[in-house]
Amino acid sequence: MESNHLDYVLVERRIASGDRLEMVKPLKIQVDPEGSCSHNCIFCNYRNVGWDMDYKDESWASGNHEKVVPGKSGIPWEVMEDLIKSVQYLRVPEVEITGGGEPTIYPYIKKMLLGLGKIDTSISLVTNGSKLAPLIGDIPNNMDWIRVSLDAARSETHEKIHRAKGYDKILRTMTGIKQALPRTDMYVSFCIVPENAGEIVEATNKYKDFGFDGIKFNAVYTPEGDGALPPEAIPKIRADLEIAEAFADDQYRVKNSFWKIDKYDDNTEFDTCYFDRFMVAIGFNCRVFPCCIVKNRPGYEYGDLRNEPLEDMLERRMKTYRAATCPPCWSRDHNIKIGELLDNA
Ligand SMILES: C[S@@+](CC[C@H](N)C(=O)[O-])C[C@H]1O[C@@H](n2cnc3c(N)ncnc32)[C@H](O)[C@@H]1O
Ligand code: SF4
Ligand code: SF4
Repeated sequence: MESNHLDYVLVERRIASGDRLEMVKPLKIQVDPEGSCSHNCIFCNYRNVGWDMDYKDESWASGNHEKVVPGKSGIPWEVMEDLIKSVQYLRVPEVEITGGGEPTIYPYIKKMLLGLGKIDTSISLVTNGSKLAPLIGDIPNNMDWIRVSLDAARSETHEKIHRAKGYDKILRTMTGIKQALPRTDMYVSFCIVPENAGEIVEATNKYKDFGFDGIKFNAVYTPEGDGALPPEAIPKIRADLEIAEAFADDQYRVKNSFWKIDKYDDNTEFDTCYFDRFMVAIGFNCRVFPCCIVKNRPGYEYGDLRNEPLEDMLERRMKTYRAATCPPCWSRDHNIKIGELLDNA
């Protein structure tokens, strides 16, 4: 389910009419159960490498990605159990399981899937696919989509970027999932870096033939705003993405989110974050944030799930919070649009 601006205005109206549940209810929760990862992608700054650094910190900005990820991190089971109860109580329509690190290596992933499988919500999973095979039998019927971060069309490129072996095994796992779970959509994620930029069209074609339901292209989020790409590479990338988009049809989505690269500068055009009504991002450290852009950044959290349930802390929304203090926000167009709709309501 993709939220739209009118959903937001509807939520605002129900809050105004005194509906407390609507006031605290996010339309989507993104949760990182685990901070560690089985891979070590060259562009990744979401796993627990660098998570507590300021976004302007020099070592973050220069990509200190070589640090070995500590073996143990993640949401304790009793906290996850309470979170699942909160999802049910709040009637949250969608829960995306992501990282952080790699959600499939979370020690309680099977219990988490079982718990979420019993409640009326839509689940999705973002994964590198390396440890997905043993979970196929545990994936519940309300798993609506799985997105596998492959970031390459070829095994050798995948190995260079993910700094891990196993590309062919991941594709075999995806074949197994397609057979076992025909109602679950399968997507590929492709974060564009110089190492894979030449494979945009090849990947789009290959994964369509493979039977995926779509591919999503993204730009690496960097504080410098350059997407970690040399400026001279960008026109060719945009041209290749246009060719890739032509592969889309009713069975295969090509989502081009490379436009985000144009939003990786300051937030001077708007003041207020409305996006926090749609979203909540929960880090593997049990802390709750308004979105994935500020996830795990000290000073942006609503609270800690070890201390209070989600529904209590969500009453302290960011409405008073100045978006200008945030890192460059790719949701700015939503925020500006919602502000205009509310001004004109
Ligand atoms: C952090 S990973 C966590 C889940 C899982 N380990 C995976 O790779 O799918 C979620 C997504 O974030 C993306 N990602 C990681 N670092 C990024 C960055 N610096 N900029 C933009 N996207 C990034 C990855 O490509 C991946 O699709
Ligand atoms: S697989 Fe996901 S979490 Fe792990 S290093 Fe790659 S992008 Fe980061
Ligand atoms: S980064 Fe954007 S979406 Fe996130 S809290 Fe700030 S203004 Fe809101």
